[in-house]
Amino acid sequence: MFAFMENNSLREYTHGVVLAPMAGSTDSAFRRICRRMGATAVVTEMVAAAGLSRKSVKSHKLLRFHTEEKPIGVQLFGNRPGDFEGAAEMVSEMDFDFIDINAGCPVKKVVNSGSGSALLRNIPALAAVVRAVSSHTSLPVTVKIRLGWSPAEPVPDSLPAILADEGAAAIAVHGRFRSDMFAGEVRKSEIERIVQNSPVPVIANGDSRSVSDALDLMDATGASGLMIGRGALGNPWIFRGLVTGKPEDAFPLPEEVVSVIRQQYEMMSEYIPVNHLYHILRGQLLNYIRGFRGAAELRGRAVGVDCREDVSDILSELEELLNTERQRNL
Ligand SMILES: Cc1cc2nc3c(=O)[nH]c(=O)nc-3n(C[C@H](O)[C@H](O)[C@H](O)COP(=O)(O)O)c2cc1C
Repeated sequence: MFAFMENNSLREYTHGVVLAPMAGSTDSAFRRICRRMGATAVVTEMVAAAGLSRKSVKSHKLLRFHTEEKPIGVQLFGNRPGDFEGAAEMVSEMDFDFIDINAGCPVKKVVNSGSGSALLRNIPALAAVVRAVSSHTSLPVTVKIRLGWSPAEPVPDSLPAILADEGAAAIAVHGRFRSDMFAGEVRKSEIERIVQNSPVPVIANGDSRSVSDALDLMDATGASGLMIGRGALGNPWIFRGLVTGKPEDAFPLPEEVVSVIRQQYEMMSEYIPVNHLYHILRGQLLNYIRGFRGAAELRGRAVGVDCREDVSDILSELEELLNTERQRNL
């Protein structure tokens, strides 16, 4: 239902099923895996517009991507229009398909500087950022928001039109307020209100842990597309289930799980120096090792992987445990 034959990268973002940006988790290798599983578009982790402007190596590393990931958006965060202008010009030279502006991050350090979801309580500042980006790129510009700062300070109903007037081509909405952080249920009716007020497509986001959760979110909100974050970590097959429309396709065979982790590891080895590789891989392994008998013990060992042999041992054991679990459930 979400597969696209046409070559229209923004439509694959606005009307598809997209991998959410997640700092520290959705690196290039994982994004490639999700695209292989059917995610119709991906977005980089958030990158500091100011960091790009001052040529920070750390920020530049976050821009690395593989053509297999396309269509891909680059997500910028910050609060000064001048930083966004420079950053937008720079990333426009890099073969990205669109530029996304982060107006949702709830982290204290980010909001204290007026960035992320702090922009939702300062609409003129957010409008200025969107204007800065749209006037310094020919790429489509999108914005990722939350519902507002708090239930007492929701975004105004006019926000989608304001963003569209400044050049935004689409809006992704995580259905929580900043004050919710990640707690409580996603507020579907609030997303629906934004959909109804928006002249541009709205992508709904929040708590899709299964194919049916995702379809419910779509139905309840009337959004044009879906964005999936934590539900894809350790379960990129959720995209396969959504693309085929068969929930069972979201449940991989044990050998598929191990094969996908191997592919991800090989891709990571191509661009992560070995002194960082295993540290980063551990986090990814933990995402996959959960929800079956013996997972806790195996997780305890996965946090110690330090070399190729350790990875092979963990994966052999993972396959065995998943096979046992499968036999048990048949
Ligand atoms: C570890 C983590 C990192 C995140 N990093 C970003 C980010 O860099 N940019 C962003 O817009 N949202 C970020 N988010 C928010 C997600 O994109 C998404 O909006 C949120 O997790 C809700 O969707 P989900 O329930 O499908 O995970 C992050 C979330 C998590 C859990």
